[in-house]
Amino acid sequence: MDERSFVAAQDFLLEAKKYWTTEIYGALKADYRHKAAKAAPGEPAEVRAMLGETVLYRYYAWLERHLQRFKYSGRYGLAPYHRERREALLAGLADPGGRLALDPDLDVPKYYSAVDIHQHPGGVSGEDIAGFVYERGSRSTTPMLGARHRDLHQRFTDILAAEGAPSRILDMGCGFGKSTRPFYDSFPEARIEAIDLSAPCLALAASIAAEDQARNVRYRQMDALATDYDDAGFDLVTSTMLIHEMPPEEIERSFAEAHRLLAPGGRMAHLDFLPASEPFARFIHYGHGRRNNEPFMRPLAEMDLEGVLAGLGFRDIEIQPFAEADGVDTVDSAAWRFPWAVVSARKA
Ligand SMILES: C[S@@+](CC[C@H](N)C(=O)[O-])C[C@H]1O[C@@H](n2cnc3c(N)ncnc32)[C@H](O)[C@@H]1O
Repeated sequence: MDERSFVAAQDFLLEAKKYWTTEIYGALKADYRHKAAKAAPGEPAEVRAMLGETVLYRYYAWLERHLQRFKYSGRYGLAPYHRERREALLAGLADPGGRLALDPDLDVPKYYSAVDIHQHPGGVSGEDIAGFVYERGSRSTTPMLGARHRDLHQRFTDILAAEGAPSRILDMGCGFGKSTRPFYDSFPEARIEAIDLSAPCLALAASIAAEDQARNVRYRQMDALATDYDDAGFDLVTSTMLIHEMPPEEIERSFAEAHRLLAPGGRMAHLDFLPASEPFARFIHYGHGRRNNEPFMRPLAEMDLEGVLAGLGFRDIEIQPFAEADGVDTVDSAAWRFPWAVVSARKA
């Protein structure tokens, strides 16, 4: 497929997604408010009973599911586009500084291999070009931000930097390094370790870090549930968009691992998605999880995170909404947005 057709098709899909994000979501929310004024639902299931069979909701749900499917797997999808360019893409990967360490014997958990996460065929580690597919796809993950998606990761890093510069940082589930980059940019004196299950993502991350001439980062293929780092070796353990991809038991195990890895007083902080308790927000978020092949979004939203973290011995537990850009209302936006939140706690 030629470049121009691919770019035009992806631009079209992004514009259609923006229409869905603003106009269709806005109409659905207005319909909900109108109906809820007569009898306010208390549970997401009651919102489903109210809206689930309407043409508007079905249109909303169809567009959400299928715009994403076309983005990855359609005629001008990310997967076929990158497959056609496979050899050139792989030839462009380089690790001159030796930042990359892969583990071909790593056992990948079943929850991970069984799901085509985000509707990405094979998920983010299913083929050797998966890192490129994911990187290109991530540019339109937050349709209202567009190219400013990168700012979101920087904003998270800036929040963490407000408490002073950490010197040993672990980024769990780093993907192709988008969440790691602001750490090596912002903390050039820190030692940064970034881990992921996906070899194709890590290879791309290391190649990008080499282009950036980052001297203080290593990318390692490792399971965040059981790393090989020593106890108490980090003062910041972080993740971005990782925990909603894990079942509750694995989330708990990753928190326990973070607790083991942190020095006393060290901080764990996860940027992820947690909807407000309000039933419409939950109905929308649970539906998003189903339609986008993210089966653990709802279980995360229903977990007692404070209880789990306190049980593991964390203190200063905070769960706060996170604005993806200046002036954005995270809790009650007029347009569809991810319900970003930061889960933060300290090791006693
Ligand atoms: C949505 S991506 C986020 C990537 C990156 N943090 C970012 O913000 O762009 C989630 C990442 O978590 C990784 N992942 C999932 N389970 C993991 C585990 N148990 N250990 C390490 N990485 C994991 C996936 O391979 C994927 O790259």
